[in-house]
Amino acid sequence: MFEKKRTIIGLETGTAKIRVAVGEQSATGALNIVHVSEVESNGVVKGEIVNPGAALEDLRNALADAEDQANVEITHVVLGVTGRHVSGFNNRGVKMIPSADREITEEDVEDVLKDARAVALPNGHCMIHCIRQNFNVDDRTNLPSPVGICGSRLESYLHVVHGNKDRSQTAFKLLKQLELGVDEMAFNGLASAMSLLEPEHKELGALVIDLGAGTTEFVVYANRIIKHTGVVAVGGHNVTNDLALGLRVSQVQAEQLKLKHGEAIADDSCKGQIITLPTDVGLPARSVNLEHLRRIQALRLTETFEIIADALTDNDLWECLGAGVFLCGGGSRTPRIQELAEKVFQLPVTLGKSSLSGPTSVTSVPEFQAAIGLVRFGASQRARRSTGDSFMERLAEPLKAISAWRNPVKAR
Ligand SMILES: Nc1ncnc2c1ncn2[C@@H]1O[C@H](COP(=O)(O)OP(=O)(O)O)[C@@H](O)[C@H]1O
Ligand SMILES: [Mg+2]
Repeated sequence: MFEKKRTIIGLETGTAKIRVAVGEQSATGALNIVHVSEVESNGVVKGEIVNPGAALEDLRNALADAEDQANVEITHVVLGVTGRHVSGFNNRGVKMIPSADREITEEDVEDVLKDARAVALPNGHCMIHCIRQNFNVDDRTNLPSPVGICGSRLESYLHVVHGNKDRSQTAFKLLKQLELGVDEMAFNGLASAMSLLEPEHKELGALVIDLGAGTTEFVVYANRIIKHTGVVAVGGHNVTNDLALGLRVSQVQAEQLKLKHGEAIADDSCKGQIITLPTDVGLPARSVNLEHLRRIQALRLTETFEIIADALTDNDLWECLGAGVFLCGGGSRTPRIQELAEKVFQLPVTLGKSSLSGPTSVTSVPEFQAAIGLVRFGASQRARRSTGDSFMERLAEPLKAISAWRNPVKAR
């Protein structure tokens, strides 16, 4: 007899590519990534859809390709979100327990989490995630669950990821036009971390950085909980722009030079080396200095890492990164990026591969990690629902705006 498998689809509307990851979950909960489709992304700038017409076509093509290649029918997706409007912070809730000998109950926990959730978000923003961190009972700190403990003051901590509602809704609307439902919505950086990290990395503490084309997402896990999330509105396109300006070449030439000759570190080995560019008919021959190229590239990448390092300092996170730094995204293909990251963070750096099972030709691709992680996020939310953890469901569920769109699709 056939084992019934569920299909979970992760959709990343990236700046460079739209990616559709197809995962299968067995009845026992085992998750397998079977395929990732990608198409050029023409309607996205810095992680946000700015040309809905072009994005709709790209989405249609990417989803159709995934259906063909993986032989599945896609009716719902887990949608990734990013952009400069997305950010995360920790928030605290407090509840006084009237008598000191009173045992903390589920109800107290619900109350204190409700208090922690009562946050004033910037105008027009909505919560994408509201994730439970830990609890304190009087001077006992970092408790995973306080139920049954006696104390007088209960504190809870939540990590809130929020973003601009209108900007997040554009992708929902396009998917609605394609008659697709959105099961969940998740921050791309969180998804990448969910793809790359094993439980022991989360326990030891890890910084995950996804170096995309328009944005760089980062997430810090420690003691198995999310400590921090952020987006730097800088990516590989900025490196290319800098090269185009600094070397006085076209964007296309700058991208080609970056991919062919680029490195994250400019050292003496490239001093005095000249690269001759292929000439267009009628134009004089051009050449660029390899050292200049790599210096420009190294400057932008160093600056990006330093912005993240500053966030670690501001949030007091340096001490909790025992497993080091994990890199993914197209930018992590830059030769010697590991060396540069080690220099900036003074931590061991790993070029990440997905910890999920699936063909290595899929799971080891650095650019696929966000889409793959969205599948894992979808599976984890499903598991919470099926174990009846309605409490966590209420807390961790992102925008559930589209339950009405759940009609299966035949033709788009
Ligand atoms: N070998 C490489 N060296 C430097 N940059 C690279 C390399 N390969 C890909 N990139 C850059 O990675 C970026 C695309 O990354 P990707 O993760 O696909 O972006 P997104 O998820 O935002 O669509 C582009 O800016 C591209 O130039
Ligand atoms: Mg990406």
